[in-house]
Amino acid sequence: MWLLLVGVLSVISVTKACTPSITTVSGTHAPVTVCSGALIFADDFEEFDLEKWQHENTFAGGGNWEFQYYSNNRTNSFTHSGILFIRPSLTADQFGSAFLSRGHLNIEGGAPADRCTNPQWYGCERTGTVTHVLNPIKSARVRTVNSFSFRYGRVEVRAKMPAGDWLWPAIWLMPAFNSYGTWPSSGEIDLVESRGNRNMFHNGVHIGTQEAGSTLHYGPYPELNGWERAHWIRRNSAGYNSAFHRYQLEWTPDFLRFSIDDVELGRVTPGNGGFWEHGGFNRFPNLLNPWRYGTKMAPFDQKFYIIMNLAVGGTNGFFPDGVQNPVPKPWWNGSPAATTDFWNGQAGWLPTWNLNSNDGQDASLQVDYVRVWAL
Ligand SMILES: *[C@@H]1O[C@H](CO)[C@@H](O)[C@H](O)[C@H]1NC(C)=O
Repeated sequence: MWLLLVGVLSVISVTKACTPSITTVSGTHAPVTVCSGALIFADDFEEFDLEKWQHENTFAGGGNWEFQYYSNNRTNSFTHSGILFIRPSLTADQFGSAFLSRGHLNIEGGAPADRCTNPQWYGCERTGTVTHVLNPIKSARVRTVNSFSFRYGRVEVRAKMPAGDWLWPAIWLMPAFNSYGTWPSSGEIDLVESRGNRNMFHNGVHIGTQEAGSTLHYGPYPELNGWERAHWIRRNSAGYNSAFHRYQLEWTPDFLRFSIDDVELGRVTPGNGGFWEHGGFNRFPNLLNPWRYGTKMAPFDQKFYIIMNLAVGGTNGFFPDGVQNPVPKPWWNGSPAATTDFWNGQAGWLPTWNLNSNDGQDASLQVDYVRVWAL
């Protein structure tokens, strides 16, 4: 009888071992109960689970007039041997190169999974012309927008960055509900971004594969963004393309902290003035602070979802004019024909992508796992 009672009590104590976490979650793959320290989202990419990862289907170019066309196609995103690959390919491989300067594409599809996901910036329908060719690169961007979003927690993504001129990989988080309004009022958390150029220098510094960065974007409107006060880079002379690294985020009600392989890259611990003061926006007395009724972490006190993509080029200055690269940058960021200029320069960048060897692995963003734990 005693033994039975002890047994019953220990079962009860095991089931009660869940200490509720302050982490909150939502989405189809979010746990019902969030226990402190528990693994609350994970993917080892033993299979490609599109219930977790929704593809973008758009020409939109991320707001930066990037040169890629994101779609759901196993040429550009697939899992193999427990790794997710996001691999670029040429749009001309599918439609022919003449199509780029005169073809018309409407990528709005009828099936739920084929819908155009971003109509902004001519994202669903474009007609190529000689000066504005259709997006010449196909690539992929996947996100947990429906499956999983969370507020506070620890994130670790083990990934290998791609190599190849003008490739722009990113693993990042965006606000699930824009609780403080549209970008950048509700924030953006960039866990890791890098550039694929193997030998690109800017003011004497290698800003290609030897550099990885983490950034927070936040501000009342796009022209007023505090990212420069929350941006960190780390150099690795072997190149972030040469090995897998663990990119980490610790996000609490007090601070946001980025690390690579357990070594802190940077952190923000806002004071009582929150990110409004951290961004220096209090120097504009006539601006209304959208975060004034949030916590001091606002806008980073709401749920975010995970995005992983491989972009190419763009005109926002992520690839500055005036960089030194073995084959010079083929477009100016101010050029109205930037995409055409990039495409016409393919003899310079395409050989650096090594697409014809090893299924394009050099040029692929490779992700071994994504894990999120509750605080
Ligand atoms: C997927 O991509 C390949 C390579 O670009 C292309 O040949 C194929 O037609 C694409 N599939 C669909 C359904 O668009």
